[in-house]
Amino acid sequence: MTAQIIDGKAFAAEVRGKVATHVARLRDEHGLTPGLAVVLVGEDPASQVYVRNKGKQTAEVGMNSIEHKLSAKTSQADLLALIDSLNADPGVHGILVQLPLPGHLDEDLVINAIAPEKDVDGFHILNVGRLGTGQKSMVPCTPLGCLMMLRAHHGSLSGLDAVVIGRSNIVGKPMAQLLLGDSCTVTIAHSRTKDLPQIVRRADIVIAAVGRTEMVPGDWIKPGATVIDVGINRIDAPEKGEGKTRLVGDCHFDSCAETAGAITPVPGGVGPMTIACLLANTLTACCRANSLPEPEGLTA
Ligand code: GUN
Repeated sequence: MTAQIIDGKAFAAEVRGKVATHVARLRDEHGLTPGLAVVLVGEDPASQVYVRNKGKQTAEVGMNSIEHKLSAKTSQADLLALIDSLNADPGVHGILVQLPLPGHLDEDLVINAIAPEKDVDGFHILNVGRLGTGQKSMVPCTPLGCLMMLRAHHGSLSGLDAVVIGRSNIVGKPMAQLLLGDSCTVTIAHSRTKDLPQIVRRADIVIAAVGRTEMVPGDWIKPGATVIDVGINRIDAPEKGEGKTRLVGDCHFDSCAETAGAITPVPGGVGPMTIACLLANTLTACCRANSLPEPEGLTA
């Protein structure tokens, strides 16, 4: 079998298009413009790239992008005061504090200071609890993007066996909750899991989110299974020239694509969906804040 490639780049463009259409309608019919505030503390180069991309895409769908770039030495009190002011600002519907934060700042405390209804990352403890109990919540962007692609590919996920490899708070655990919400039978596997290959082999859906280069080979994949590769690992690529690098996932793409029914590539799979879902969450937050119907197909 040669797998169908799930084109995350095209899918993300479709999501952004739906968001832009809805944003235009909010403006024309209600005089509303969703606003997303992104807070970056320090100068981590990867974070600077993410934040720049978020700002650009936010503006492209017609939303207000508000950026706060703070020195790496910012005190916890000053950061909390900024979050308080964003919580109170009616023009701000979504707040994202870029992680990781410098070591002297308490990430949990900072995230939990964000008003839960503006927590477009879905990291606030109330949103985590709401997702786990099936209540309306803000859902973390990467797992939401994976869910959207799975629903589009399969239609119903009900009764399918799903194995999530990785138990992070950002991807693994919320992904498992979302799959459970769609009536999958869910296994969360991790570094201490016994006989991982056997467990992965029974999955109709494999979500790889461990951050280990090409760790899942094709002979772990059940014929016809759907493989969602969340990993983004940079490796040396001497074949491209001296000092060059390339991105690969947590799955060995070529061998997995031989056995899988469908697979997301890296790059161009899950990655582009994350920011698209951040925009979708900001739109959802704006609709909820104004007691307007939520956009269809853009939430869990
Ligand atoms: N750093 C890397 N990914 C993310 C993300 O999804 N949200 C936040 N807040 N920080 C990140």
